[in-house]
Amino acid sequence: MEHKNNHFSGRLGFVLVAAGSAVGVGNLWRFPYLAAKDGGGLFLIVYFALVLTFGFTLLVSDIALGRRTKKSAIGAYTELNPKWRFLGIITFLVPVLIMTYYTVIGGWITKFAVDFLTGQAGATAQDGYFTSFITSPTSPVIFTLIFTGLTALIVFKGVQAGLERVSRYMMPVLLILVVFIAGYSLTLEHTDADGVSRTGLQGLVYYLTPHTEGLTLGRFGQILLDAMSQLFFSLSVSMGIMITYGSYVKKDVNLNSSVHQIEFLDAGVAFIAGVMIIPAVYVFSGVEGMSAGPSLMFISLPKVFNAMGKAGTLVGIAFFVSAIFATLTSCISVLESIVANCMEIFHASREKTVKVLTVIYLVACAVICLGYSIFYLEIPLPNGSVGQLLDLMDYISNSVMMPFIALLSTVLIGWIVKPDYIIEEMEQNGDKFGRKGLYRIMIRYIAPAMMLVLFLQSTGILDI
Ligand code: PFF
Repeated sequence: MEHKNNHFSGRLGFVLVAAGSAVGVGNLWRFPYLAAKDGGGLFLIVYFALVLTFGFTLLVSDIALGRRTKKSAIGAYTELNPKWRFLGIITFLVPVLIMTYYTVIGGWITKFAVDFLTGQAGATAQDGYFTSFITSPTSPVIFTLIFTGLTALIVFKGVQAGLERVSRYMMPVLLILVVFIAGYSLTLEHTDADGVSRTGLQGLVYYLTPHTEGLTLGRFGQILLDAMSQLFFSLSVSMGIMITYGSYVKKDVNLNSSVHQIEFLDAGVAFIAGVMIIPAVYVFSGVEGMSAGPSLMFISLPKVFNAMGKAGTLVGIAFFVSAIFATLTSCISVLESIVANCMEIFHASREKTVKVLTVIYLVACAVICLGYSIFYLEIPLPNGSVGQLLDLMDYISNSVMMPFIALLSTVLIGWIVKPDYIIEEMEQNGDKFGRKGLYRIMIRYIAPAMMLVLFLQSTGILDI
């Protein structure tokens, strides 16, 4: 087990790799969109309160479980209680599904980065550019395969030579780039055709002010649920990734400070992404310009970069390069957790496992990518929207499976195994487990209750 491929070198390596998993497109496109839609500062308060309570509880549980059992999801849950092996299997299936579409998004981002780097920034701002790109049966597939191959290569190299090396370089660069763009966004100023002037600082005020006008209990419940589902996805919890990463952490590493740093980096980048995107969109398109998900990143932002004039190309390059880093470090965590589980189940070597999975995923990711062209389907989802294959994978993994796993794992740890199992691991080496009392209450009572509501709501059974 003391093999270099199965351990992080130390705390910094672990924190950067784990934060690399956490910081991804969820921070860059989903968080700013939700913040703008859900009352600005009101969403921020709710979100950060949840990070410190729910996020903390789930992150601690995953990481400590991984380190204590030294196993990935299937092995870890089986060790806790053999009857709960099924929970390990469902947990393992989440990254299995996420991998099929996260690489597609990584491919789209790579394409836009290449466009900006080769002087095509103007073209990306044209109406219909993104749609005509993703509906082509060749170009997006090529970029998806490149991104999948790159991910596989890093995972092939192992924990220290692959994951850690890449994260040590990409995470600091990513941080510098987002801070640079955020600073630039605040200096923006624009007067539109109707003579209305808006500044980046006004956009910042819009982002930070808690908008409570017309707030009802139902609306607040909706904001709470939006924040909670964002939190899971963003922290990469309840999908086995942090269990696998926890299993690579040496016993002498203080898990408490590591958890604080991961929470801080993830929430920090999400917050800065808001400062980067909301004022820029506000200046050029007003509040109405904030669109959801892919269309924010691939339609609205290229138009905003275009409106910035010459500086826009540079800002666009910085943005898409930072997005590649964010997506790649997340994608390697998804594949790593699949690989780790498979290595344990089949007693196979890393090299062989990665090779087999690469072949499978090159095919699977291409199929999902072709869901906008050859395999175009209109699939009605329980939340009332209609989506393509990518949305279906996203819906099943994030809206159905993740809350269900979180619910079951809190019941298992809180009531069957008992919280002391996790607390002992957090207090290993005499380390102080700061929010211990909070952890006990959260894992036994509050988290299971809220997870049940989230699960019922996101599957459409309950309608708040
Ligand atoms: N946490 C990443 C984000 O916020 O984009 C996304 C992610 C990474 C989701 C890894 C799932 C995952 F397995």
